[in-house]
This record gives sequence, C-alpha cells and structure tokens, in this order.
Amino acid sequence: MKQKKIQLNFKTADFSELQEIDRALISCAKEAIPTAYAPYSGFLVGASILLENGEIINGSNQENVAYPSGLCAERVAIFYVGAKYPNVKILTIAVTVFSKSFNVTDVISPCGACRQVMAEYEDKQDQPIKVILHSPNDTVLISDKVSDLLPFMFKSPHLKKH
Ligand code: THU
Repeated sequence: MKQKKIQLNFKTADFSELQEIDRALISCAKEAIPTAYAPYSGFLVGASILLENGEIINGSNQENVAYPSGLCAERVAIFYVGAKYPNVKILTIAVTVFSKSFNVTDVISPCGACRQVMAEYEDKQDQPIKVILHSPNDTVLISDKVSDLLPFMFKSPHLKKH
C-alpha cells in the first residue's frame, strides 16, 4: 500500500487587493443576490460568470418546495452560459452569499454537484476557469482552476466500456 498526497492550490485575499475586473465580477454576483428564490433556506447566493467575449452572466439559487428540484446559483449561471453561448469560453466565476438568518463570515464553498459541473465545462473548453469565492465580510478565496477544487472528478472516459 502506498500513501499518496494531493496538493491543492488556492489564494486568499481581501476584496480591496483584487484586480478591478475581479472586484467588478463580485459586485455583479452581489447584485444577483436579490434575484435568488430561497424561501426555504433563507440562504441567498449570487454567481457571476465572465466570458471571453466580455459578457457577464448572472445566476442565483432557485429553490422549490420539492427541495431537490431547486438549483444552486453556480449551476443556474453556468447552464445558462452553456445554453446561450455554447462556444464562448468562461474566464471566471465569482460567487457570493447573504443569509437572512445569520451572519455569514466564511467564503461560500460550492457544493460537490456544482464543482462537478464547473469542472466539466472547464474540461470541455480546455482552458482553466478561475473561481472567486467571496464572503460578505470581504474576504476572498481564489482558485485558478476548478479542477483544483475537485480532485478525482468523474470524467467521460470513466463511462467507456473496456
Ligand atoms: N447554494 C448555492 O446556490 N450555491 C452553493 O454554493 C451552496 C448552496 C444554495 C442551494 C440552496 O438553495 C441554498 O444555497 C442552501 O443550501
């Protein structure tokens, strides 16, 4: 048996230290928060995607009384990009959050399903997608690529018969 390690690379920063384009994307994600439909969790998430053509696409979480039918902000935004701009590359996704019931002090961390979806779009476009995770207290975690957030992701070759 061999012991192995995986190294994850990420940066932390304050909002004020970021480049203007990244600050602007976080501001867009904040603007998307009021569009969240989250009557069940009171946890409002905004996600903004910067495309290589300069467009910014916003998404927010959309819940449903049949709980599993709802969708996270990240997937709302990225599936919209996939449907509207299937051949335009994604440069960056910024995600932020507001809770109606408590003070969020940590950066939002995308769920496993969102990481899987973002990682597959990254693979498909063969170019890294930068991920910026923002906390309402203006601390930020940055990953230069989604794959760093999802080691051992499930990939399509896993579907092939041997
Ligand atoms: N949620 C997101 O939209 N993105 C995340 O990264 C984590 C969780 C949503 C799903 C649900 O509407 C609410 O937050 C509580 O889990």
